[in-house]
Amino acid sequence: MRIAAISDLHVIPNDEDDFLLAEIRKKVEEIEPDVFVVAGDLSDDLDTLSRTLGMLRVDDCENLFVAGNHDVWFDESGGPGSLEKYSRLIGQECRRRGFLHLPDAPFIADDLAFIGSVGWYDYSFRREDMDIPIESYEHKEHNGAIWYDLFRIDWTMTDVEATEIFNRRIEYDLSTLPDSVRHVVYVSHHLPFQELTIYKDRLPWDFHSAFMGAKSTGEVLLRDGRVLLSISGHSHIRNLIKIDGLTAMTVPLGYGRPDREHMKEFIREAVAEIHIEGAAVNVVDFVSGDICAGLPYVDSRH
Ligand SMILES: [Fe+2]
Ligand SMILES: [Fe+2]
Repeated sequence: MRIAAISDLHVIPNDEDDFLLAEIRKKVEEIEPDVFVVAGDLSDDLDTLSRTLGMLRVDDCENLFVAGNHDVWFDESGGPGSLEKYSRLIGQECRRRGFLHLPDAPFIADDLAFIGSVGWYDYSFRREDMDIPIESYEHKEHNGAIWYDLFRIDWTMTDVEATEIFNRRIEYDLSTLPDSVRHVVYVSHHLPFQELTIYKDRLPWDFHSAFMGAKSTGEVLLRDGRVLLSISGHSHIRNLIKIDGLTAMTVPLGYGRPDREHMKEFIREAVAEIHIEGAAVNVVDFVSGDICAGLPYVDSRH
């Protein structure tokens, strides 16, 4: 089983990003994967999200998508809420574009299953030694630093409740897999393991790190025993770790854009290639860190 994976393209529908998307698809076609995974944060605009999926879709391979927080941001001027986007509209666009929206249903290939979730955060990644009151996380604001989901997410429940519901859905998906499934790949946007998060011992960075994911999600995965690999986005710093034999990675591209001359190299760094044989997971030439460091980016990109 060969997998190509990427996340966090944060697309603007313009020529520059059309070129980027075409280059990503070319790179994925070169890899010739069985499964192409896109782990969220394409666009808060549903039309742009849909169009982007259409441009990324690769033939002769299963194309899988998991929505990110930006994808479920509601439009301040009206339109569908986060829950409607996540539970109905994004799946609809995926089907239209030849993608499977994994949170709607697992994908099973022989003895390997892919399950997916946006994942969420419950502030369990917070730096307790920084003595920031829990209310600051609940309000998503600390000393002027804001986590922007504050204005654009309307789950109609608390973050802790959202995390619990998404965890329960993962448990449900795991518990209802057919007996023939021996191994599982988990795809999410938010991080299931704190060890994937990069801390910098400074604010507001480490305040924002509390919004990266939830420890309880990783516990669900480890408890199951069949999960070999976890692929996530959200953090724009690429990371690859092993936890109790489980390979966990983040595969973001990010906000930066190189000039066309350097695009191929940039895309080569951005698209992760993973091979699974039996229970063995092999990540090929993984590039860690922030591949957008030093590159120009457009302010309105979100
Ligand atoms: Fe992102
Ligand atoms: Fe994100």
